[in-house]
Amino acid sequence: MADVLVLYYSRYGATATMAQHIARGVEEVDGMQARVRTVPPVSTLCEASEDRIPDAGPPYASLEDLRDCAGLALGSPTRFGNMAAPLKYFIDTTSSLWLGAALAGKPATVFTSTASLHGGQETTLLSMMLPLLHHGMLILGIPYSETDLLHTEAGGTPYGASHLAGPDSKKPLTDAELRLCRAQGKRLAAAARKLAT
Ligand SMILES: Cc1cc2nc3c(=O)[nH]c(=O)nc-3n(C[C@H](O)[C@H](O)[C@H](O)COP(=O)(O)O)c2cc1C
Repeated sequence: MADVLVLYYSRYGATATMAQHIARGVEEVDGMQARVRTVPPVSTLCEASEDRIPDAGPPYASLEDLRDCAGLALGSPTRFGNMAAPLKYFIDTTSSLWLGAALAGKPATVFTSTASLHGGQETTLLSMMLPLLHHGMLILGIPYSETDLLHTEAGGTPYGASHLAGPDSKKPLTDAELRLCRAQGKRLAAAARKLAT
């Protein structure tokens, strides 16, 4: 079995739910399994160290999780049109992987959740791709053959899955958002499997 890393940050749970559905899509591909990881919150008291195991949810990611993965799905809530600081903080610790080109040639994809429909889903998704391109990763979106993209009334973009969570982040994923998460995970895993052979 090869691992696809589903790495996300979520404060209120919406991005975490998306991550679960992306992981299910990954596991629809024979020979591929999802390794789900998160990152700790950060505070202005930087370098404060968290326990390695959070109170709930998946473990915190390590550099080894990234180095060993066959592909990466990276998810973040939108914050001011960009990814959340805890995820960026983790990415900023990956210089050693970058120096060794450890992620170069691996497929990657991104997903996000927002409070409002025009609150920056696309800007977040596109800007999340930038550090992955620096790492030499092969970026995958969602093709319009996933016909849900043609009729979106909530989340769902060709740049990656997205979710309109509403002001309190409590809206459940629509059926279309859910299908797009799964399709994205499956597409990533299929690409990772092809590239690994
Ligand atoms: C500091 C901060 C900034 C935010 N910026 C945006 C934004 O630019 N656009 C938007 O639509 N939602 C914004 N939100 C709302 C979150 O993106 C939204 O609640 C998201 O669904 C949270 O995901 P989570 O449940 O995985 O934590 C922001 C929330 C916080 C706390």
